[in-house]
Amino acid sequence: MKNESICCINNDFSIDNLKNLVTATYGDTQPLCYLHSFGCQQNATDGEKLKNLISKIGYGFTDETEKASLIILNTCAVREHAEDRVFGNIGRFKRLKKEKPDTIICICGCMAQQKHIAERIKNNYRQVDLVFGTFALNEFYEMLYNVLKTKSRVFNITERQEEINENFKQLRDNKVKASVPIMYGCNNFCTYCIVPYVRGRERSRTVEAVYNEVSDLVADGYKEITLLGQNVNSYSYGFPMLLRKLNTIDGDFRIRFMSSHPKDATYELIDAILECDKVCKHLHLPMQSGCDRVLKEMNRRYTIEEYAKIIDYARNKKPDFSFTSDIIVGFPGETYEEFCETKKAVKRFKFDNIYSFIYSKRKGTKAELMEDNVSDKQKGLWLRELLLEHREVTVSWLSRFVGKTLRVLADGEGRTSENHLQGRSDENIIVEFIGDKSLTGSFVDVKINKAMNWALLGEIV
Ligand code: 5AD
Ligand code: SF4
Repeated sequence: MKNESICCINNDFSIDNLKNLVTATYGDTQPLCYLHSFGCQQNATDGEKLKNLISKIGYGFTDETEKASLIILNTCAVREHAEDRVFGNIGRFKRLKKEKPDTIICICGCMAQQKHIAERIKNNYRQVDLVFGTFALNEFYEMLYNVLKTKSRVFNITERQEEINENFKQLRDNKVKASVPIMYGCNNFCTYCIVPYVRGRERSRTVEAVYNEVSDLVADGYKEITLLGQNVNSYSYGFPMLLRKLNTIDGDFRIRFMSSHPKDATYELIDAILECDKVCKHLHLPMQSGCDRVLKEMNRRYTIEEYAKIIDYARNKKPDFSFTSDIIVGFPGETYEEFCETKKAVKRFKFDNIYSFIYSKRKGTKAELMEDNVSDKQKGLWLRELLLEHREVTVSWLSRFVGKTLRVLADGEGRTSENHLQGRSDENIIVEFIGDKSLTGSFVDVKINKAMNWALLGEIV
C-alpha cells in the first residue's frame, strides 16, 4: 500500500501553525483527546510519548470518547483477540464521526503497522482519519496537521530504522511507577510472533540516556522503575552492566525489567540481580513451552534443560528467588503429550505467576503456515488444565514467604476488606495488609501470615 500522504505535502507546517489550526478548528473551548493504549508496557510508553506531544499543542485529555475531538487507539498485534477489540471500537466510532465530523479518529501502534490491517481500515472504515505505525511516531505533528488542514485521510506505515529520538519524553499518568524503554525492536523471530515485523530490528538507547532518565525519575520521587525491551538481555551495551550502573543511583526506589529471553539469560545476569540491592530478586523468563520439539519449532533456541540451568543457578544462590513465565498453549502441531510436558515444567519450576495464552495465528509469521489440527475449544481446555496445575503448586510455593517480612510498594485499596491495602513485593507478588490509605505510593514492611493462590496476606511491622 502506498502512503497516501505524509509530512511535507503542506510546506507551511510548523508547530505554531499546527496550534493555530487546532484553535481555528475547535474554537475557544479546549479540545480534548481520548487516548487508549492496548497491549504491553512498551506500547503504553509509546502512548505516553504521544500524550506528551498532544498536551503541547493545546489539547486536554478525557476518558470519554463522546467528549473527545481527537480519539487515538494505540493498538497491539500480538494476538488476534486484541485486534478484534479494536475493530469493535472502530465500528462504534462511525456514529460518533457522523454526529461530530470534526472529531479526528486515529489508529496507531503495532496493529496499524501491518499492511493488511491498514488496507482493511482504508477500505472498510471511512470514519478513521489517520493511521500510522510504530515507526511514524516522530511525525505525529505533521500527520495531524495534514489531516486537519486538508481534511483528507492520512496513512503512514513505512518501516524505517532510524536513530532513537531522545527528545521524545513520556507524559506519565502514574507518579510512583515508571517504565523506561532501554531498547526497541526484536531480532529473534520466534515463529509465532508478530513483534519483529511490526517493531523492526533491535536498537538500544545509550547507557547515559537511560541513566539520566532513571536519575531524573528517582529525583522526582518515583519508587519503581521498570526497564523495558523485547529482550533486555541483548541490550547492546551489556544489560548486567546497566543494572549495576543504575544501582548506584541514590534514593529509595527499586528496579524491575522485562522481558528476558532465556537463550541470552546468563549467570552474570543472575549475579547482577543478586548483588544489586535495588534490583528486584525476580526474573520474568518466558518459557513458552516445556517440550523441546515445540521449542525448536518456535525457534526459541534453547532446550528445557538449558532453561532449567538458569533457574537452578539462581535458586542455588537464593532458594526463594522468584520466576514468572509466559506460556503458549496449542502451538501448531503440539500434541496433548507435548502439552503435558509444559504442565510438568510448570510444576518443576514453581513459577510465582504464569501468563498463559492460547496460540493465535499471526499473518506473515512462519507459524501461520504450519499445520494446526487442534481446535480452539480443545486448546481452551488445555489452558484450563494448565492453570489448575499451576494453582496447585502456587499456594505451597508462595508459603515460603510465611513468617518472613517483605518490602511492599503499596498500590491502593485491597480486595480482602475495606481496611486492606494492596501492594506488590519485590518478587512482584500481590500482598494484602491492613493499613491507612495514606501509605499508597510508599514502601511498607509487611510480615507475611498466610499464602493464598492469588496473593499473600500479612501485617505491617
Ligand atoms: N499467540 C499467542 N501468544 C503469543 N505471544 C506472542 N505471540 C503470540 C501468539 N501469536 C505471547 C508470548 C509472549 C507474550 C508477550 O505473548 O508468550 O511471551
Ligand atoms: Fe516475539 Fe520472540 Fe521477540 Fe519476544 S523474543 S518479541 S516472543 S520474537
